Amino acid sequence: MSANRPAAVVVLAAGEGTRMKSATPKVLHEICGRSLVGHVVAASRELDPEHLVVVVGHAREQVTAHLADIDAGVRTAVQYEQNGTGHAVRMALQELGGSWGSPRTESGGGTVVVVCGDTPLLTGETLSALVATHGADGNAVTVLTAEVPDSTGYGRIVRDAETGAVTAIVEHKDATGEQRAIREINSGVFAFDGALLADALGKVRTDNSQGEEYLTDVLGILREAGHRVGASVGSDHRQILGINNRVQLAEARALLNARLLERAMLAGVTVVDPASTFVDVTVTFGQDALVHPGTQLLGATHVAEGAEVGPNTRLKDTQVGPGARVDNTVADSAVIGESASVGPYAYLRPGTNLGLKAKAGTYVEMKNATIGEGTKVPHLSYVGDATIGEYSNIGAASVFVNYDGEHKHHTTVGSHCKTGSDNMFVAPVTIGDGAYTAAGSVITKDVPPGALAVARGQQRNIEGWVARKRPGSAAASAAQSAAREGSAEG
Ligand code: UD1
Ligand code: MG
Repeated sequence: MSANRPAAVVVLAAGEGTRMKSATPKVLHEICGRSLVGHVVAASRELDPEHLVVVVGHAREQVTAHLADIDAGVRTAVQYEQNGTGHAVRMALQELGGSWGSPRTESGGGTVVVVCGDTPLLTGETLSALVATHGADGNAVTVLTAEVPDSTGYGRIVRDAETGAVTAIVEHKDATGEQRAIREINSGVFAFDGALLADALGKVRTDNSQGEEYLTDVLGILREAGHRVGASVGSDHRQILGINNRVQLAEARALLNARLLERAMLAGVTVVDPASTFVDVTVTFGQDALVHPGTQLLGATHVAEGAEVGPNTRLKDTQVGPGARVDNTVADSAVIGESASVGPYAYLRPGTNLGLKAKAGTYVEMKNATIGEGTKVPHLSYVGDATIGEYSNIGAASVFVNYDGEHKHHTTVGSHCKTGSDNMFVAPVTIGDGAYTAAGSVITKDVPPGALAVARGQQRNIEGWVARKRPGSAAASAAQSAAREGSAEG
């Protein structure tokens, strides 16, 4: 166990987030495939705290259900009225109950880290560095600060002019003109000595412009009581970007996306145009994967080594095998085998499983379909609820007719089959190994291995029909000339 293991991380997420102007609680808005609070919880987990408590209030049923979904180990503390960040932390310590009041817990930690639920860019690394500084300096509290280009709205870090020591945090609304000029701001992230925090929170007053219990006042209280108050200046102010509206949401998404792509590129992935490539935090790559412009990779998508995806492709929860090529494609929960080829203009729906070197070509839709090694469905086809063996070829413009209006049925095509163009396979039906079907067939009965199935009307040519029914037309005169030339040659 790490010496710096905190006793608890408290995530503040009770606020409504009015400025989002949304029916969805602020902390449940998503960037890169994870909710805002989900990002903060994930970063907090990297500290391996004994307790992880999220303070919920506004829309707490929804937020609590979401938290249970993403991290079963998270505890919640309810703050019924949002009386300020200090009050919120009090609610969290109350929830933790028995563990508090003694300066050190069994693990020797005793440190309580507080973070806001709306700062999704904060990394576990930054949190760890804060906790390490806090421990090494023997502080009662250490606040993570940053120098920002525009400090409007943030709490300002006030330092002693001579010693440079932090003396207080003053909220924007309560700050004097001189204090507002300060560029160093409170990130909202703190490491506290838990016992001193619990004690100081009892002394926080509400005589400020918002009539709230400010967590930030704890710094001044601890300092006046003679305790060490420290600050750790973060190296990247973008990490502490707090999301209050949808402009900042988009800003944070762009920054996180760029960070994820940068990590992928440094690990050996070629991203042709990072500006038009979008990935979720859960996406993974093999070495030498190549991503073309206009590509969105979502959820648990994996692009294996040497595979090439895009342009203009959206893959969700999809596995792309080594060396596969996926072009102008939309796929959801599909498995694309090694060296398989998909698109351009393919749509792979859940349950599609393409084998080694298999092909789902142009204007091809598949759903719940297993396509064997080397089998090709090259053009204009729908394959739904089907199993196709190895090295078969499905003719252009074929439809696996799987739905009778009430139920879905399965079609099985064997290995080394060649089915003609424009076939309808009316399920349930089975085509045996090595069988052929004629173009334009509507296959309603099983085809034995090695047979040729022909299931279409016989062609009938009615001689002279155009001359009789369309006299004087261009078609009639073309037919007449053709007949003359034919008899001259003959
Ligand atoms: C807070 C800080 C400010 C800092 C800024 C960084 C205080 C008093 N101010 O201001 O110094 O620069 O964050 O982004 O701490 N929350 C609750 N319960 C409450 C109030 C807030 O859970 O009663 C939660 C919110 O959901 C949010 C976080 O605490 O996740 C911060 O609250 P917010 O209202 O955004 O505070 P700021 O005004 O941004
Ligand atoms: Mg805020």
